[in-house]
Parts: sequence; structure tokens; C-alpha cells
Amino acid sequence: MNTITQKISIEKVKTSKIDQVDFDNLAFGSVFTDHMLVCDFRNGAWETPKITPYQPISLEPSAKIFHYGQSIFEGMKAYKDTANKIWFFRPFDNHKRLNISANRMAIPEIPEEYFMEGLKALVELEEAWIPQKDGSSLYIRPFIFASGKGFHASPADEYKFIICLAPSGSYFSGKVKVLIEEKYSRSANGGVGYAKAGGNYAGQFYPTQLAAKKGYSQVIWTDDNNHEYIEEAGAMNIFIRIDDTLITGPTSDRILDGITRKSILQIAEDEGINTEVRKITVNEVVEAAKNGRLKEMFGAGTAAVISPISTFGHRDVDYDLPELEKSYATRLKKRITDIQYNRAEDPFGWRHGL
Ligand code: PLP
Ligand code: COI
Repeated sequence: MNTITQKISIEKVKTSKIDQVDFDNLAFGSVFTDHMLVCDFRNGAWETPKITPYQPISLEPSAKIFHYGQSIFEGMKAYKDTANKIWFFRPFDNHKRLNISANRMAIPEIPEEYFMEGLKALVELEEAWIPQKDGSSLYIRPFIFASGKGFHASPADEYKFIICLAPSGSYFSGKVKVLIEEKYSRSANGGVGYAKAGGNYAGQFYPTQLAAKKGYSQVIWTDDNNHEYIEEAGAMNIFIRIDDTLITGPTSDRILDGITRKSILQIAEDEGINTEVRKITVNEVVEAAKNGRLKEMFGAGTAAVISPISTFGHRDVDYDLPELEKSYATRLKKRITDIQYNRAEDPFGWRHGL
């Protein structure tokens, strides 16, 4: 069934935790609002979503999520403008991508109405939790996992779709130093790299820990064939500016089709910045760094927004990026966040009011 037949029920908390939150010093994704949305898939159909207090979930130890990792998620944000109106950014794209991930992981698709109505009902209830400070927003985490039980290695018969909310500040604190990875791979041809599958992230933790021991906060993944081409970072797509051209790799079945990435490409074109979507080799970037043509590198993603990279490491050599007064990163970040926070016109029709 693609439409919700009953009203979304709301069970409210007795006492809100909101007074315990320091909204001036928010980290990323570490405090959660009072309520969550829960929707169960049973007997071949999604049931009516309900809003409950944010609380632990009870699952059987044989639930397939624990054994076979059938789990996908999305990342999006809600913003509050100076008139207290609430905005989402391209939420239908997150819904579509959740279902692309669902298909790849043999998880039942969530209908648009369940996603959008559930999202709106929850965010409306938690409206007071949306930070207004510049750089802060309400991070939204919709996810689906296999709650059905059984050790048989096959898709579960029951799933939970949940949305949790976390008032959040910046994803990175301090400078972003990245390491170009040439041993481990995040994804492979024909694999699940284009899906926002939980396991894609778990698989990155160990190589990222190794990089962290050398002082890098993120790994830049390269293709799994020959580690020749720049792909993306752990939680963001990558843009590279050589001279005045902004380059990003094409999406593929190994790379997440980022909503921020495609928005930045459109904004850059609108701003008259020369853009190229093409494969870019590690060698080209290293050569450009050596001969002074590498002007900027930055990551782009919902959590990361636009995060300038200060240094990249390659084969035990660190290359520092120049600190530009008028960087593309600053210019594009202003354009995209002005649209997100309703501080500027949205010629692209991306902003979606609650
Ligand atoms: N790449 C990966 C692996 C990610 O986890 C994310 C974050 O969602 C992105 C790229 C950026 O995607 P988006 O801009 O849609 O948030
Ligand atoms: C996001 O940017 O929303 C993401 O999903 C990245 C996440 C791993 C923090």
C-alpha cells in the first residue's frame, strides 16, 4: 500500500530533555530529540507510522540486521529561518536514494507518503529543537533495518523504518587532513558503494583508524582496480580545483550520488565557474600540487556541508593546499547555505517548506 490509511499516532514524552542541551556548543549527531518515528514492515506491508518517545528498541538476537547487516540510512537536515519557518533541502531526493539503497540491499521500498508525512509530523513536533545558530541545524537520520529473525542467510521478512533527529553543529572540528588510500578499498564494481548501506561505513573504520594514527582525519578512496582515480571520502564527495576549473569524479556503482555534490555542480555552473565531471587521477592531483596549479580540494555532503581540505597525504608525502582569500569553497558554501536557511532566492526549487 502506498498511502497511509490511518493518522500517525503521537505518544509524547512526559518531560522534555531540551533544557539539558547546550545549543551554543552542539557537536555533530550526539544529542537526540525527545521523539522518534517508527514504522514496521510486517506481513508484506508497511504499517501506519507512529511517533513515540526516543527510546531503546527491543530486537531478537537472531534479527537479521545483527548477522547479515541488512541496513540502510539517509542523512538530511531541517533549517529554521529568522521568521521561524522550517525548511528541508531536496527531501524527495533523499527519499528516492533511500529506495535505491533499499533495492540493492533487498529491503522493501518505503513509499513516498510514509517517508514525507512521517518526516513532517516528527519535525513539526520537534520544532523547538531546530537550532538557529549559523552552522547548526537539525540533522535527520531516516534508516531501515532487518528486524525479522532467523539465521538463514536471506532477506528478512520484517523491517523497521525509523527517523531520529539530532540538533547538530559542524561535522569536522579543525582542519581536514586527508590521506589518499592505495591499499584498502571502500567499494568495488558491481558492489554496494552507491547505496547508503551501513556496512559501507563499518568497512571504512579500520583503514580510517590507520590513517588517524598518522594524523589524518579522513581517507580519500581510490578505485579498487588500480587505485589510480580519486573517488570520494568516507562521508562526502570530493571536489578538486586545478587552476580555475572545478573537477569532481563521475558517480558510478562505487560512489554515492551525493545531493550536495549535484547541487554544487549546478550552483557552480550558475556562478559561471568552469566545471568538469570526469575521472581524475591521483597523479594529476599530485602533479598539480607540485607545480602550484592545485588551488583547492574540498569535501561536500549533508553533514560536512562544504569542508575545505587543508592537506592531503600521498605515499608518505604531505601536500598543503594554499589558503585562498576568495576560494570557490567559501563562495559555494555561502550560496548553498543561503538557500538552505532561506537567506536567499532559490532559483532551483530545492527548498521545501514544512
Ligand atoms: N559520500 C558518502 C560516502 C556519504 O556518506 C555522503 C553523505 O551522505 C556523501 C557522499 C554526500 O552525500 P549527500 O550530499 O547526499 O549528503
Ligand atoms: C551525511 O552527510 O548525512 C552522511 O550520511 C554522512 C554520515 C556518515 C555522517
